[in-house]
Amino acid sequence: MIKNAKTITESRTEMNELVLPNDTNALGNLMGGNLMRWMDIASAICASKHCSSFVVTVSVDHLTFAEPIKLGDVVTITAVATRSFHTSIEIFLEVFTRGILEEKSRKSNQAFFTFVALDERTMRPKLVPEVIPTTDEEKKLFDEAIVRREMRLVLSGKMKPSDAKISLDFLNK
Ligand SMILES: CC(C)(COP(=O)(O)OP(=O)(O)OC[C@H]1O[C@@H](n2cnc3c(N)ncnc32)[C@H](O)[C@@H]1OP(=O)(O)O)[C@@H](O)C(=O)NCCC(=O)NCCS
Repeated sequence: MIKNAKTITESRTEMNELVLPNDTNALGNLMGGNLMRWMDIASAICASKHCSSFVVTVSVDHLTFAEPIKLGDVVTITAVATRSFHTSIEIFLEVFTRGILEEKSRKSNQAFFTFVALDERTMRPKLVPEVIPTTDEEKKLFDEAIVRREMRLVLSGKMKPSDAKISLDFLNK
């Protein structure tokens, strides 16, 4: 483990937004692209806190839109670091939505964003601190991150499928 490894709590980020008319489409629902922008900001804050660095988004995966988000809803985005590799780090995002007159939030979206930390002098990728998972849920996200990493590298053409080492059988454990 490298010296400056950090727990997930240290960089956990929560962001709240109110859906205003300019954020919506013709149906009065939040535009997907506006939500993605907020998710990008929340996850970038989380990644830069963990890495104590400038970071850039390198990949967005598994972004789901389970429920529409309406004009006037309050959107809460949580971002947590799941695992770092060498110069990159995976962030898990969940989006919860609540109408002003509602008692409870509902989960509307989730996604995994990957960031690369950049050295501020050379602007090239630099090593990032390890993530220390503590709870069972954090450990599960940490273990599965290695599979998601290979999948995204293969799907983006960065890795040959024949070079992928991890079998999906891992998920059945
Ligand atoms: C991110 C960037 C610096 C990486 O540069 P690069 O020359 O590809 O660097 P490397 O090949 O050494 O890859 C660096 C890391 O990114 C990861 N990576 C590269 N492409 C990836 C992809 N499509 N998905 C996931 N990870 C990826 C690599 O696996 C590596 O991670 P690791 O060191 O933890 O193993 C470069 O691609 C870049 O500047 N992209 C634009 C980023 C940007 O502007 N984002 C904002 C857009 S709005």
